[in-house]
Amino acid sequence: MKDFAGKFAVITGGGTGMGRELARQLVAAGCNVAICDVSAKAMAETKRLCESEKLPQGLRVTTHVADVSIEAHYTRFRNELIEQQKTDRIHLLFNNAGIGGGSSMIANTRAQWERTFNICWGGVYLGVRTFLPLLLKADEGHIVNTSSINGFWATVGMGVPHTAYSAAKFAVKGFTEALIIDLRLNAPHIKCSVVMPGHIGTSIVSNSRKVQSGTERLNPDDIVQARQRMKAAGIDTALMSDEDIQNVAVERARAFRDEAPMTAAAAAKVILDGVKADRWRILVGDDAHRLDERVRQTPERAYDRDFFESFAAEVGWRLS
Ligand SMILES: NC(=O)c1ccc[n+]([C@@H]2O[C@H](COP(=O)([O-])OP(=O)(O)OC[C@H]3O[C@@H](n4cnc5c(N)ncnc54)[C@H](O)[C@@H]3O)[C@@H](O)[C@H]2O)c1
Repeated sequence: MKDFAGKFAVITGGGTGMGRELARQLVAAGCNVAICDVSAKAMAETKRLCESEKLPQGLRVTTHVADVSIEAHYTRFRNELIEQQKTDRIHLLFNNAGIGGGSSMIANTRAQWERTFNICWGGVYLGVRTFLPLLLKADEGHIVNTSSINGFWATVGMGVPHTAYSAAKFAVKGFTEALIIDLRLNAPHIKCSVVMPGHIGTSIVSNSRKVQSGTERLNPDDIVQARQRMKAAGIDTALMSDEDIQNVAVERARAFRDEAPMTAAAAAKVILDGVKADRWRILVGDDAHRLDERVRQTPERAYDRDFFESFAAEVGWRLS
């Protein structure tokens, strides 16, 4: 797809981060955009930012509260889109919504684990199921599924388990790669891409906590786990109060957003350029490219401490 003008795009998780920046850049290119998110407030800000540039006449930006892990929400979103955007077809589907958390099979509850998995994997699967009929009706279409570097490397560092997110992101990658042939055979006017970002500066750390537990603050179980992780990393937390641990979490979320090697806007540009160039495999960020090479070169070493430490030093990561 060489040109987004006059097209219709769906973006899940359009309230903040990369979803918001995709919306802004698509609208600037003359594309109608329908976004969904669990946060109406965040979507209102995305809409305001999209409309702060004068929209071409007739261009529509609509917002829809929907949880991508729930099929009935998706169905409502699709029906609202058809009515409000006055279209029975779409050209672009960005399955972007995602959260972290629920990282351990042992330390987390089943509900926490499945919340992350059902959003990161289920949200992508249901997104394709729900919107495929509208993509099939268009003259050309493109499905863009956001995985992660955790779609080919199942860790974010030695001291942190990462099972739910990694399992979901591997699933998104495998599903999208398998879709390439399925679409080629059964709907050749539709293309697809898997997006694998490295570290991008967004509020995903605090947003994930909000979606998991309804508040940005750590709950008592989170505090126990944070103390255990810090202890494993050689930090003595005996003299730290629970409020001190809360403050560490706030600082970690801030640093993730503000000290990343790439902004959400730059990431969105890489994604849209990848779609225009018809690339099915879109790595986002220098760290993602380097990690992809390293994991291919020495897969058996991918979960060794020295692999992580030398990679983190090479790309300047200070994540764990
Ligand atoms: N930031 C990174 O470093 C990074 C790296 C690799 C992959 N990713 C992936 O990129 C995508 C976008 O993440 P981001 O970094 O822009 O995060 P973000 O938190 O800024 O944006 C994600 C949006 O999704 C929304 N959301 C969460 N759960 C939802 C649900 N159940 N239904 C609907 N909306 C929901 C959030 O409210 C938020 O607005 C995610 O899939 C994430 O896993 C991010």
